[in-house]
Amino acid sequence: MITDRTPAPNQFHNELELDPKAYGLPGAEELAALLAALHPDCAPGTAPRQGPDGSGGDVYAPRVVPQTASVAHVPGTAGLPQIPAAWQAPSFARVGNLSVEALRADFPILGEEVNGRRLVWLDNAATTQKPRPVIERLEYYYRHENSNVHRGAHTLAQRATDAYESARAAIARFIGAPDSAEVVFVRGATEGINLVAQGYVKQFLRPGDEIILTMLEHHANIVPWQLLAEETGAVLRVAPIDADGQIILSGYADLFTPRTRFVSASHVSNALGTVAPVAEMIALAHGHGVRVCIDGAQSVSHLPVDVRALDADFFVFSGHKIYGPTGIGIVYGKSELLEAARPYQGGGNMIADVTFAETVYRKAPAKFEAGTGNIAGAAGLGAAVEYISAIGMRHIAAYEQDLLAYGTRALSAVPGLRLIGTAAHKASVLSFILNGHAIEDVGRRLSAAGIAVRAGHHCAQPVLRHFGLEGTVRPSLAFYNTREEVDLLTDVLSDIAGGKT
Ligand code: ALA
Repeated sequence: MITDRTPAPNQFHNELELDPKAYGLPGAEELAALLAALHPDCAPGTAPRQGPDGSGGDVYAPRVVPQTASVAHVPGTAGLPQIPAAWQAPSFARVGNLSVEALRADFPILGEEVNGRRLVWLDNAATTQKPRPVIERLEYYYRHENSNVHRGAHTLAQRATDAYESARAAIARFIGAPDSAEVVFVRGATEGINLVAQGYVKQFLRPGDEIILTMLEHHANIVPWQLLAEETGAVLRVAPIDADGQIILSGYADLFTPRTRFVSASHVSNALGTVAPVAEMIALAHGHGVRVCIDGAQSVSHLPVDVRALDADFFVFSGHKIYGPTGIGIVYGKSELLEAARPYQGGGNMIADVTFAETVYRKAPAKFEAGTGNIAGAAGLGAAVEYISAIGMRHIAAYEQDLLAYGTRALSAVPGLRLIGTAAHKASVLSFILNGHAIEDVGRRLSAAGIAVRAGHHCAQPVLRHFGLEGTVRPSLAFYNTREEVDLLTDVLSDIAGGKT
């Protein structure tokens, strides 16, 4: 028998509310408790949990919106017939109470072969793979709903508008935004930061005003501010990090002056995996009357995020890094700040009235969504956040923390391997260099073994140069990765380190 555990919509929100510290890693005690609950089932040889009739009990059904006409997705039933059984994740590995094997079956691409080897996808910080409910959601949209969004014009316009707005509501629930009107669709985190810089911050800047960033930033959270500084005469200040890649909070606090106008900081470093203490950083900034934008591109897929608990003024992320489509992402902004912001781009859809003399804008979020947006992408992103909410971000965080600890131990044992980024609080990333081996060569050797990692500067040159490096090899984890995949990575790296060809 298959149990439908499709959560009611408000369960997604309740899941976030369960965690008073929803903005960061689970606390040590909580993590220990979660892991203790996981471990009995993780012990090799332990039989997987059984359903009432003896079949696999770990079934769930992430929603594909709308449910009405589409086929309900029942994970674990599709299987991966093209993958030899030995290649599949062992059934004892679990994310919460769901088997990793069943979860992997939701991601068709994980059944691909590359270079004659089973694909091992460890490039999740660059982009994540897409589960069936997201792929099906896109197909459903184009088969049954495709229209521009202008509610009331005709039936398909109504369907497309419903798809777009229900995705917005799902995303608002996912990040704890009080009102879906505080969620603006954009192309991704990069466009989101540009929108915040140009639409909100620019109007307040005078020559000599200061914007605080951190040493951890991705280029997407540096260059838009440099452009703005060039335009306005503002100055950038950079919060320091220590040898482990952790923000030095006292150094950050020292940067505030009466000229500080804004802070923009990443939640999780894409190059090192450091989880920044953003709640404390936001509270410090607010103590100076300064607003903050958090770049959540690398956090939302790994940690429970609640923008209210964080008290973030703006929060941005990209859909493709959270199991959704490319070309879609969001800016969350507190409603009064979106109200105070100028439109980022002008055009159709964002106006209430236009004459050649003047234009009256619509309210947010429409004010920031000029032109025809990525409607299908938005629906796909809505499906993605509902999918991972059904699994549970707390469970995903706990599983990935365990896998990260396992990977850290395993890679540390490879001769000549030096991990770059050893913060106490990390998510997903295992950046490293290997003595005597160019990073590009390591990347190629891994690719030949079917293992996808990123080798390069990761669009974060300042932080790598802080470590005296121009690049690293960067495996990055997701909840569908397994210890066996980490073992394979470690074996190939040990061969490279040992000079085996
Ligand atoms: N920002 C993406 C990465 O870290 C592209 O790889």
